Amino acid sequence: MIRAESLTKKFYGDKKTADKTAVDAVSFRVKTGEVFGLLGPNGAGKTTVIRMLTLQTRATSGQIYYDGENIAVNPRLVKSLLGVVPQQVNFDMDLTVGENMELHGRLHHLSADTRKKRIDELLDFVELKDTVGQNVRRLSGGMKRRLLIARALIHRPRILFLDEPTVALDPQVRRRIWELIRRLAGGGTTIFLTTHYIEEAESLCQRVAVLNRGRLVALDTPKNLCQNLGAWTVEWNGVAGREYRFFPAKAQAADFAKELASEGSIELRPTNLEDAFIELTGRREGL
Ligand SMILES: Nc1ncnc2c1ncn2[C@@H]1O[C@H](COP(=O)(O)OP(=O)(O)OP(=O)(O)O)[C@@H](O)[C@H]1O
Ligand SMILES: [Mg+2]
Repeated sequence: MIRAESLTKKFYGDKKTADKTAVDAVSFRVKTGEVFGLLGPNGAGKTTVIRMLTLQTRATSGQIYYDGENIAVNPRLVKSLLGVVPQQVNFDMDLTVGENMELHGRLHHLSADTRKKRIDELLDFVELKDTVGQNVRRLSGGMKRRLLIARALIHRPRILFLDEPTVALDPQVRRRIWELIRRLAGGGTTIFLTTHYIEEAESLCQRVAVLNRGRLVALDTPKNLCQNLGAWTVEWNGVAGREYRFFPAKAQAADFAKELASEGSIELRPTNLEDAFIELTGRREGL
């Protein structure tokens, strides 16, 4: 459905700041109907990728295709296919929940009847029907996130982009949002999400791309990312803190662990996506 080829974004500095390549020759495909995750530490370039894919900013170089057609050919048509849940909440804070939805419906040129029907349906879907007349300021963080999702769906996009959909939310609210995303995916919407929560990617995404300092360092299923590293992990307290070693087979890992026996606190366990993420990005921040 989406094909990105050698996508690059440079931000040019001035006298005080250097030029910055935020996204560096990144290529990938997103298949119709999949939940695709873009994972990376803070500043890796995730939002910049979404902004290019959703035509909010122009790539410095590289190409983007939707269903085989370059986005430059008919940007308006491409925009009508996609919905965006931004990283920053950007409602009109002086308006009510219903009015914010209404405004978005008008931006998409929906008729009054369609707007009314969809606003009802979508507020029901995200369980915010009772708040329709409330000022958006009064919503909690989790409610605002859900409203962002409802708003992004008003024109029934075929693909929904979610930039850190659960950042700063408590675990229960996070799970409710995951449920919404699963229901959308189950209904056939293609999902492209960014996150730095490993368990979010593991639980929702069929495939995960890992971005580090603007470069794509891996793209695979969560399971393969772990297996490529070695399906079994031995971790122990080494001289420089916690140390990790990865093995393709449990028996090999067990042999290695036995040799370490004198060092105490050794753990033998299946490799998880967090191990793969740390190995690939070499960074722990954002976890
Ligand atoms: N408009 C801009 N002008 C200059 N630099 C920018 C601009 N937008 C982003 N950057 C830089 O590009 C890099 C990537 O930023 P981006 O917001 O895409 O990262 P991110 O992966 O979304 O990070 P986070 O997890 O913090 O949201 C960062 O170093 C950032 O400072
Ligand atoms: Mg971001």
